[in-house]
Amino acid sequence: MPCHKIQAGGLPHCIGSLPRLKISCSLMIQDRTISTRPPRVYLETYGCQMNVADSQTITSILRRAGYDSIDRPDDADVILLNTCAIREHAEERVLGRLTALARIKESRPEVKLGLLGCMAQHNRAAIVEKASYLDVVAGPDSYRRLPEMLGEIGQIGFDPAVDVRLDRTETYADISPDFGGGVRAYVTAMRGCDRFCAFCVVPYVRGRERSIPPTDLMREIRDLASRGVKEIVLLGQTVNAYRYDGTDFGGLLKMIARIEGIERIRFTSPHPSDVSESMIEAMATEPKVQPHLHLPLQSGSDRVLAAMERGYNVAQYLDLVARVRAAIPAIALSTDIIVGFHGEAESDFDATVSMMREVGYDSSFMFKYSVREHTRAFKLGDSVSEEEKQRRLTALIAIQEEMSLDRYRALVGQTFPVLVEGPARRGEGRLAGKTPQFKTAIFPGADDVRVGETVNVRVDSATGHSLLGTALL
Ligand code: SAH
Ligand code: SF4
Ligand code: F3S
Repeated sequence: MPCHKIQAGGLPHCIGSLPRLKISCSLMIQDRTISTRPPRVYLETYGCQMNVADSQTITSILRRAGYDSIDRPDDADVILLNTCAIREHAEERVLGRLTALARIKESRPEVKLGLLGCMAQHNRAAIVEKASYLDVVAGPDSYRRLPEMLGEIGQIGFDPAVDVRLDRTETYADISPDFGGGVRAYVTAMRGCDRFCAFCVVPYVRGRERSIPPTDLMREIRDLASRGVKEIVLLGQTVNAYRYDGTDFGGLLKMIARIEGIERIRFTSPHPSDVSESMIEAMATEPKVQPHLHLPLQSGSDRVLAAMERGYNVAQYLDLVARVRAAIPAIALSTDIIVGFHGEAESDFDATVSMMREVGYDSSFMFKYSVREHTRAFKLGDSVSEEEKQRRLTALIAIQEEMSLDRYRALVGQTFPVLVEGPARRGEGRLAGKTPQFKTAIFPGADDVRVGETVNVRVDSATGHSLLGTALL
């Protein structure tokens, strides 16, 4: 997790390596080990859920090409990092990791090392220069070519195989991602972003908005349902801008709600300006669409919102919150906030604090502004010092922690249907799952409670991050 983020029940933004399947075999002939096994690939994922989903697509593409997945870099023939460029810190983490992984190459020079994803797209020249040991550099629209690129290595001298072309049409719609198992699955509904918020690198690294045809999404989700998936999380950087022919986002939610076996539907990240009546109506009327809305605010100051080119002001955002709460009274709200954007005065920050308190978010992801090359805000500058950004961030986190604790504690005594995901992180025979509002619920396991079932859990106590309760059987 990026260190500046508190996760009080929101969808996780950042993950480590994905669990992988290890299959290998080798044959001893006359004292020599001749490998008959397929090449093994180790893939590590950084960044948002879109990257998690992309890593499943990458795994699927490589499996089709004869590669096996492995969950340790030490035994891999190919090591890939699927990276994030959203903040400088995210890039620094990957560069540090690359240096560590490059050591494996020192002892086994035949190992191929690849940098994929948003960072590859954002910074290819600098990266190729800094990390001369890289064999492959591939952007988010180049994954189909990965087997070919991995095959090219060696034929083209010491140059890495680089493909960072953005493709206005690439959606990988025909590729079934290599779903790693579990009750929840991510499904990419749209790729790219056309909004160009002044601070954000995503439109530059992910390219233009593209919605995946509903027929492909339905096929993929039906397939996931047949494999035991109960909850779908639709993904897109502005997922509610989804449109394909006559189907808008509200229509898509309704279509997915018809799929047998899928019990819960979530989505992230919607953009406030793309919230339509049809979307609110689908959330209000389709019981499968869960009452949780991640509604990134970024700032509570109109001046800063305008400089960020977010496309809404405080009054419009508050009006939206009121409409959503009126239509879906049980809704939980979470958000993203940036502190210390260029030009953010103390009074702007105070406005953000007031706005947070006024809306009363159940959880927030909070970040220090990080200047990103290529973005519109790049040339504006970075007027708030690192110390001041940290001070504002710390203050905001404390406020959210306090609000989360109050909001979670207010649920003590209530009962929620919880989709059981598996053992709780700290074990002790306890199970964990999510409430409809995407709050983590932890409760003692029982013989007749199974993963994938929904059980009613009465909340007995709460922290600011989870609800502790008892399953009512
Ligand atoms: N598409 C989503 C956001 C995706 S990026 C939306 O529009 O809301 C996830 C979050 O990272 C953003 O909401 C923002 O809070 C944060 N972020 C993006 N660029 C950033 C930057 N340059 N510095 C700090 N935080 C940033
Ligand atoms: Fe970035 Fe704005 Fe697009 Fe979100 S909507 S991905 S913040 S440009
Ligand atoms: Fe990062 Fe790319 Fe997602 S920049 S936040 S991994 S779209």
